[in-house]
Amino acid sequence: MKPAVHGRDVAFRIAGGSQLAGDICIAGSKNAALPEMAAALLTTEPLRLENVPKVTDTALMAEILTGLGGRSEGEGTVTLRMARARDASVPDDLGGRMRATIVLLGALLGRFGQARVPRPGGDDIGARRVDQHLRGLRQMGARIQETGSEIIAETDRLRGARIVFDLPTVTGTENILLAAVLAEGRTDIFNAAREPHVQDLCRLLGKMGARIEGVGTERLVVDGVRELGGAEHTVIPDYLEAGTYAIAVAATGGELRLECSRPEDLNMVLLKLELAGAHVETGDGWFKVGRRPRNRIQPIDMSTWTFPGFPTDLQAQYMALMTQADGETVISEYVHENRFQHVTQLAKMGAGITVEGRLHAVVHGPCRLRGTEVSIPDIRSGAALVIAALCAEGESTLRNAWHVDRGYEDMAAKLASVGAQIESVTLDSEHGGHGRTYE
Ligand code: EPU
Repeated sequence: MKPAVHGRDVAFRIAGGSQLAGDICIAGSKNAALPEMAAALLTTEPLRLENVPKVTDTALMAEILTGLGGRSEGEGTVTLRMARARDASVPDDLGGRMRATIVLLGALLGRFGQARVPRPGGDDIGARRVDQHLRGLRQMGARIQETGSEIIAETDRLRGARIVFDLPTVTGTENILLAAVLAEGRTDIFNAAREPHVQDLCRLLGKMGARIEGVGTERLVVDGVRELGGAEHTVIPDYLEAGTYAIAVAATGGELRLECSRPEDLNMVLLKLELAGAHVETGDGWFKVGRRPRNRIQPIDMSTWTFPGFPTDLQAQYMALMTQADGETVISEYVHENRFQHVTQLAKMGAGITVEGRLHAVVHGPCRLRGTEVSIPDIRSGAALVIAALCAEGESTLRNAWHVDRGYEDMAAKLASVGAQIESVTLDSEHGGHGRTYE
């Protein structure tokens, strides 16, 4: 699904009240696939990635890599050949549409010793700074200039360095990894992000010949090598997609079996769902979540934190669930500043939520949600509004559904296959255009 063009907008139309039951197969992780596709720049041999989610963000990354002079073949299974890549400059119009293009900075510096990428804008979910990326790359010998719209970097030779993050940054860790694997000497990263997608990138780089110790811990030690080769790799399942459907079924009642997923990546989320009254069963590569309608949802406070904490990318969905809880829930967002833009839209549906400062929201459950028209502000808020609409009385129209397709493969079809009354419809656009977003 593409952003609204020529005055048309793709929307979700959802009739609430159905329980969910059945199996859903979870796609590959968007946030793993994006830096892994960028890693193709580090070798002249082909890189074959399986289980790449068919979402607009991965299609955009393929388009950018092609624009740099490489080739990208296939969907789902994607083969990237970057031997002929010559250009170290990411065009503004493509790069500006997706914040994750920032990971091309480390990869382009590693390959060409120079890079020009669009400056990722601050967006609705917080300031989204990149100061730690730039500090780390400067420590490694990059000369970096920032203009209002671009980051321009060059180096004669990247050298290993001791890099301390004052907050574990996901794409910052990925950028330093992508720069460090071909740098001269050892890079020691302290307070690295440990998210499953960061670990998966390390595994891929290892297959390409990189030397990385400490994968899955907060200290990553990278010994640079002279060159990297091609590899074949299967992108890990998307724990954020799996977590979204797990929260959805806890909200609607019923039972879902989530196939091709890794419950071990969702320990904190599954704990909260159990405390809230859902039942959970886990296996190797699958898990089940369900709730009997007579088990009322309990209000369980939650704070987001970096992995293995509760993911910020599931906070909005959890808030939608807590609108159905028997009492008040405090939700604290400690990763992104001000990531509560779903609150206004949830309130339009009847949710009683008070935002206190930039960090806390109090959900006054149980809220009687009513179907209405709302506008999706970003990808995860979109998932939250889908969950709310599934719980609401009557019909909801969720405009700007293209946000959701940036990171969820066929959400409407998957939910419809397990009993949700949801369809994608094309409507006249509210404003005849669309805004940009930078997840
Ligand atoms: N931060 C800094 N300085 C930096 C980098 C980050 O202050 O140099 C701050 C940010 O402002 C933010 C916090 O650190 O408050 C965490 O930011 P992080 O850098 O970890 O976020 P990100 O790398 O920009 C990735 C995901 C996001 C996800 C966050 C947190 C990708 C492509 N994006 O963003 O995913 O929310 O990590 O887990 O991996 C999404 O998929 O919906 C999404 C927004």
